[in-house]
Amino acid sequence: MPDSPPHRRIESLAQLKAATMACRECPIGEIATQSVVGEGMLQPRLMLVGEQPGDQEDLAGHPFIGPAGKLLARALEAAGIPREQTFVSNAVKHFKFELRGKRRIHKSPAVREIAACHHWLEDEIALVKPAALVALGSTAARSLMGRAVPVMAQRGQWLPRPDGLQVLVTLHPSALLRVDAEDREAAFEAFVADLRQAKRLFAR
Ligand code: URA
Repeated sequence: MPDSPPHRRIESLAQLKAATMACRECPIGEIATQSVVGEGMLQPRLMLVGEQPGDQEDLAGHPFIGPAGKLLARALEAAGIPREQTFVSNAVKHFKFELRGKRRIHKSPAVREIAACHHWLEDEIALVKPAALVALGSTAARSLMGRAVPVMAQRGQWLPRPDGLQVLVTLHPSALLRVDAEDREAAFEAFVADLRQAKRLFAR
């Protein structure tokens, strides 16, 4: 990994956007349209962390607005979690893709790229101050926990971080979009069941 530049304290999401826009600590920043930082409520009960912006998010500059975001919104509603009371972000702030003809095909970030972006995610958590976190898939779980997490084995479970924050582990919503049509409803219900583990945080 290249040496990181001296790290300036990030005091707002606007500063985080500007700093990640300029970030070249890994190669993804060079190919993406822009960085995408999280959005939602500050000091929320829950901050959800995905992998990286997708094609639509990269163009629009907002997280989880494409197909995976729509599925996530539906699942949160089914789990009784008000999306507007959450903060939604990603472990990696730029879109990594491969060009096939004119199509930009998503590529998973490498472990070193997740590591390079990790300090931005921690800055964001420090700014947002969530009561708890949700790791959507293995990239988010790796970044939030600082180690590989067997997501299928630990889905629906809360894992403690050294800073005391609890992380609910589940799948990435994109994984559900790849499930065969006949299994999709059951996969969606299992995802909702995982998210329901966080519902008590919203009880009044
Ligand atoms: N997938 C993600 O992980 N994040 C997004 O913002 C969109 C798709």
